[in-house]
Amino acid sequence: MCGIVGYIGDEQAAPILLEGLKRLEYRGYDSAGVVVARGGKLTLTKTRGYVENLVAATDGGLRLPGTVGLGHTRWATHGQPTDENAHPHVSDGGKIAVVHNGIIENYAKLREFLRSKGYHFQSETDTEVAVNLIAFFYAESGDLKLAVAQAARRMEGSYALGILCEDCPDTLIATKKEAPLVVAVAEGANFLASDVAAILEYTREVYRLQDDEIAVLTRDKIEFFTGELDPITKSLEHIDWDISAAEKGGYEHFMLKEIAEQPESVRKTVFPRIRYGRVVLDELDISDEYIKSLTHIYLVGCGTAFYVGAAAKYNLEKLARIPTEAIMASEFRYSAPILGATTLVICISQSGTTADTIAAMREAKARGARVLSIVNVVGSVIAEESDWTLYTWAGPEICVASTKAYSTQLALTYLVALRFAEARGALDAAEYDAIVALLQVLPDRMETVLQNREQIQYVSSLFFNREDIFFIGRNIDYAVSLEGSLKLKEISYIHSEAYAAGELKHGPIALIEDGTLVITVAAYNKLIDKTISNAVEVKSRGAIILALTTDNGKAALSGVADEIITIPDTHDVLLPSLAVLPLQLFAYYVALARGREIDKPRNLAKSVTVE
Ligand code: M6R
Repeated sequence: MCGIVGYIGDEQAAPILLEGLKRLEYRGYDSAGVVVARGGKLTLTKTRGYVENLVAATDGGLRLPGTVGLGHTRWATHGQPTDENAHPHVSDGGKIAVVHNGIIENYAKLREFLRSKGYHFQSETDTEVAVNLIAFFYAESGDLKLAVAQAARRMEGSYALGILCEDCPDTLIATKKEAPLVVAVAEGANFLASDVAAILEYTREVYRLQDDEIAVLTRDKIEFFTGELDPITKSLEHIDWDISAAEKGGYEHFMLKEIAEQPESVRKTVFPRIRYGRVVLDELDISDEYIKSLTHIYLVGCGTAFYVGAAAKYNLEKLARIPTEAIMASEFRYSAPILGATTLVICISQSGTTADTIAAMREAKARGARVLSIVNVVGSVIAEESDWTLYTWAGPEICVASTKAYSTQLALTYLVALRFAEARGALDAAEYDAIVALLQVLPDRMETVLQNREQIQYVSSLFFNREDIFFIGRNIDYAVSLEGSLKLKEISYIHSEAYAAGELKHGPIALIEDGTLVITVAAYNKLIDKTISNAVEVKSRGAIILALTTDNGKAALSGVADEIITIPDTHDVLLPSLAVLPLQLFAYYVALARGREIDKPRNLAKSVTVE
């Protein structure tokens, strides 16, 4: 969603800010802006649309002199994506400028208060309320840091704020609540950013700001304070991922690069956690007694992360024999779930900052359940607040459509299921060993599937112009179908639905007509014949069948399917890791053929930090 970058140093700020904003583009946004300070004056440029517009409007930033500034990419919440609503926003009179990520929930009340004090507003945003509230307190004391602390105490909701004032043009101030913000130290300069990707070119040494903390940045110093303005000392964190991980490296799109990276990401996530044929989860200080005591598991997440949960539900029940339910975070939080000491909530999130998943996690903890999170971004809110965290070692995922996060999250759910199965004595030793052995060759089998890119591109060329595409599957194949359908709609904008194949006759079959494409996922050995029967039902009503099955299942499907894509055989539990790959590639090539903006699909944001 929104992105923040701030710079204070000896170089011209605007070109650096624009570069930083480009690195935040993947998060999804619809307008962008920068503000710089020079000679006690703030200069502001903001435009609707992409950072390129801002680059063009400022001649790559060169038209904006000054060595201190803030930049922002905005994903509209309050008010349309217009020039006026773009950030930065300035206070009435133009003295203070602010960039803001998050939502100030009590903005309407605060705006009324400020109007009663004579403040005027130009935009529809909650951010303009924040900047005027700071200005209001600043007018009383002339102390910017104090004014920020006072304003922060009045604001409800979530925010990461970068603040610049014309009276103190050699200072940047930052504060945050429930939205990420880092402050970073570089050679001759200091930065602030909502995401390290924005500043990695300059530095890898960052401080993570915690809620309510305030940072005051000058060229050669960074000071930290509590919300009560007591000075605090913070520790530097070294970011060790390579900047090339956030670059396309010769691929046409980040999505294709990230699809190709999946075998390696799964290796990194799984291999260090298997020792001498056993799953060892050192990070989980979790006792066998606790695992044995579990009566229920909820898997909670949004979008793709929820669909990982949908697959993991089958595996946890199958292997560990614990009643398990996958539920969308947005539903979980308001559904009064029955939770307690014997309930485990597994929160799954790439970013670790998804608002609904954070709320679900807090709800679970407040109701007495323990939370285990599966997260990609180190130090993110969900990772920090959970009782236990397992990191996926996927590296930065830039494309809005999630691929390598899905694969690594899924891989971790296998490990959790195996660990729990072992603790509960629920799984036969031979089967445990077989699954672990196959897990160790899973990345190689994923590579085999990805080598089949050409066939998948060819099949995509047959169907890229469809208006509706259905996916069907049973059990774990149904879970994969949900993800395949989401991927397709996200990046191709084709209408698509996934159904449990057995449900078709209960309604959705009415949608099938001559030429409707039905992607039939039939990899789960035990149910291939059942799924084939469902494929036959739609075929006899005119559907075209594109089947996805295993080498083993191919013969059974050949009389039914119009096109067949195969994946290698493996243990049933691990099938989703292989089956999802052709579906990701199918979505990619269909979107490519339709000329879509694959890495930044319309209306979507990488990290959904609002409810
Ligand atoms: O960062 P998270 O994993 O919590 O994000 C959850 C969803 O917003 C995310 O998976 C979304 O559905 C992706 N665009 C899917 O490709």
